[in-house]
Amino acid sequence: MSSKSSIQVKLVLDEEMRNEEIINEIRKIVENACKKETNYFGYGIWTHHITSVVKWAKTLARKSNADEEIVEIAALLHDYASIVNINNYSGHHTCGAELAEEIKKHGYPQDKIEKIKHCIVTHRSSIDLPRKTIEAKIVASADAMSFFDNIHSLLYLAYIRHKMNVDEGAKWVLNKLEKAGKNHTGS
Ligand SMILES: [Fe+2]
Repeated sequence: MSSKSSIQVKLVLDEEMRNEEIINEIRKIVENACKKETNYFGYGIWTHHITSVVKWAKTLARKSNADEEIVEIAALLHDYASIVNINNYSGHHTCGAELAEEIKKHGYPQDKIEKIKHCIVTHRSSIDLPRKTIEAKIVASADAMSFFDNIHSLLYLAYIRHKMNVDEGAKWVLNKLEKAGKNHTGS
């Protein structure tokens, strides 16, 4: 192997390691935010939602030959704005996308950041925005699939956090699942 090709191999490895470090860092930041008492949803949003969205997003990306790195970072960050401050809930998709710009500080490429932002902006089943990339479709589907995977977590939100009565909670959970089902099938 010539010295030139050894350098090229090293650069590729360095870049991969850097991106892996960035993902690990984002994972830590989001999990720590989930642990904070100020997080309205409780730590369960990490253990019963975010990690599940990441799992489904990576599974779908592998099956569809999509960019696993983009979907993983977007899945980690998609609800981050609401976790940090519940007052962001109604606009957490746009606010979360703005927060994704922070990765730039770590030298993460702008074109990838744009792809991540598009996934975050379009992830919500309740907001009808066109998903222009396979990665955006994957993150929205993974978010929806996580609801079906973690119905207990929706019940917790309805009855414990939102303090709904039995009828209100049943309606709210069914509505969430119905929207998620439409989202997942793309209808
Ligand atoms: Fe979510």
